[in-house]
Amino acid sequence: MDSSTVIELSARLRRARRLTVVTGAGVSAASGVPTFRGPSRLWRSFRPEDLATPEAFGRNPRLVWEWYDWRRSLIAACLPNPAHEVLARWSHRDGFTLITQNVDGLHERAGTRGVVRFHGSIWELRCAPGCRNDSWEDRTVPLAELPPRCPRCGGLARPGVVWFGESIDPRVLARSEAALDCDVMLSVGTSSVVYPAAGLVQAARARGAFVAEINPATTDVAGELDLAIAAPAEEALPRLDALVNGMV
Ligand code: APR
Repeated sequence: MDSSTVIELSARLRRARRLTVVTGAGVSAASGVPTFRGPSRLWRSFRPEDLATPEAFGRNPRLVWEWYDWRRSLIAACLPNPAHEVLARWSHRDGFTLITQNVDGLHERAGTRGVVRFHGSIWELRCAPGCRNDSWEDRTVPLAELPPRCPRCGGLARPGVVWFGESIDPRVLARSEAALDCDVMLSVGTSSVVYPAAGLVQAARARGAFVAEINPATTDVAGELDLAIAAPAEEALPRLDALVNGMV
């Protein structure tokens, strides 16, 4: 981790009146949650893009639910890591917004306030045919029945997440849009290949935000950043936090 870069970002973070952080799967990697485009990309022989679609669910809801049930069980055994903990502390600052693409709920478990769940939550279920039972929380692992059913109408239930080809909830988009007017936008642990989430960084920069990234790998938005810290989130965020607080 390059010290001058970390020091510069910590100074920007200290001065920022409005700070928006966008996170992706990499922030949960140290907790043991597999990333989507990393070495543990495949479940059985399937890629996430083969399963996280309305078409896949239409063809074989049981298979899609087996994948989600496996992920739910895996995540239930994971704990927030130091990266989540730093962001949870920062969420008590005025002008702070956390937008996450993660559906694992680990930011909330770390105590983060006001999380904007861009892609929904793996702990929420929805009625697939869309009866008036909007959504409900179910943290049972493993689920008693696959595929699970809507308790109101008996129709198929689906995970309360956003699949490829689906739109982002307009209320979530509005909250994200409002957070683009910030002094610093920090993108942490995302490959920045999935839109519209990946466009948040460029949109904030176009409005004048200083844009930085924390990721051990180079990403697709590398050319559009003001600063990049090539390090794992669970190392870089505690170091930044200590600098912001004048502890080192
Ligand atoms: N700290 C920070 N970043 C890390 C770490 C770590 N410890 N470990 C891995 N990374 C980085 C990887 O280098 C990669 O760039 O995290 C990123 C994870 O990228 P993806 O697996 O593509 O995850 P994400 O960007 O969140 O995916 C976006 O795609 O499949 C969909 O809906 C799903 O929300 C997801 C979306």
